[in-house]
Amino acid sequence: MAETQRNIILTGDRPTGSLHIGHYVGSLKRRVALQDSGRFDEIYILIADAQALTDNADDPQKIRDNIIQVTLDYLSAGIDPEKTVICIQSQLPALYELTAYYMNLVTTARLERNPTVKAEIKMRGFNEGGVGLPVGFYTYPISQAADITAFKANCVPVGEDQMPMLEQCKEIVHKFNSTYGEVLVDPQILLNENSACRRLPGTDGKAKMSKSLGNCIYLNASREELHQKVMSMFTDPDHINISDPGKIEGNCVFTYLDAFATDEDFAEFCPDFRNLEEMKAQYMKGGLGDVKCKKLLERVLDKELEPIRKRRAKWEADIPAVYEILKKGTMKARETTERTLSEVKEAMKINYFADDALISEWEHR
Ligand code: TRP
Repeated sequence: MAETQRNIILTGDRPTGSLHIGHYVGSLKRRVALQDSGRFDEIYILIADAQALTDNADDPQKIRDNIIQVTLDYLSAGIDPEKTVICIQSQLPALYELTAYYMNLVTTARLERNPTVKAEIKMRGFNEGGVGLPVGFYTYPISQAADITAFKANCVPVGEDQMPMLEQCKEIVHKFNSTYGEVLVDPQILLNENSACRRLPGTDGKAKMSKSLGNCIYLNASREELHQKVMSMFTDPDHINISDPGKIEGNCVFTYLDAFATDEDFAEFCPDFRNLEEMKAQYMKGGLGDVKCKKLLERVLDKELEPIRKRRAKWEADIPAVYEILKKGTMKARETTERTLSEVKEAMKINYFADDALISEWEHR
């Protein structure tokens, strides 16, 4: 147990739909960079189907379909199954045993304070108009702590909205370790440095990309879809004539450029400006039309999506291989999570049959 801490990453996603460029720039792209950095001993991505079921209990088919969909998104974004273990939450029973024990270390009052869960309860209409709050949903931060600790992850690269989950997890780790002994690893959250990447708005300017609002650009968007989405993007509604001064704030085109465009992109696609700062200055002054900015954005996004499309086409043609990746990854994750569970049970003194010490303890009373 006293081995030196290895560098272990765990991230996860709920398989409720295709991933969009908000997921990509906020998390997926960085997972690929971290994967390729060579700085980590183990990297896991957990497809959190059981967590998705906590508020989709009536639609298991949706979750089932998205297991493959999300894996295709990972692989096409550049996740390499040789370096990153992709695994499925519901197939890792150790996670649920850990959850059960952690539940004793968390109060209902503490769960009620979780701002992410609070916002989600509101959004989903739980506790309103006779719609009850499922216990599984209410307690998912505890199960997420089990996810993170089962892999002994010390690094969790996720979006800002996951901060309260990490805080909850840290509290469980401290409580567990001080009660039963140092077994669990204290995880650190790794946020994106580029704030535009942290929360990419929908193409309509609404705070979040969401399937039901139709304001997403999916990772598997075709050239035509991309064109249509960028050209209809929300900009500055008061910027009517090209000569009018325009606003940058709340203007999606610029938010997206902030997240994606590099100086090299300007040299390649829009040499009138050296960088985004110059373009913004001109826009604010007046004399720069939306279409020119949108054309740049479309080319920048297309450059990003093209290799992703190519890899997707390759994997889509070989679904049995995708299935094998999931199966192999899940088997590997089973070993890891079972090992942690054994250590947890030993620390909690509930490993009765690991040896027969219980007999001698009793005999020497
Ligand atoms: N709650 C995360 C989300 O909605 C998904 C998730 C489940 C996760 N288990 C995790 C993220 C463990 C990081 C670590 O995006």
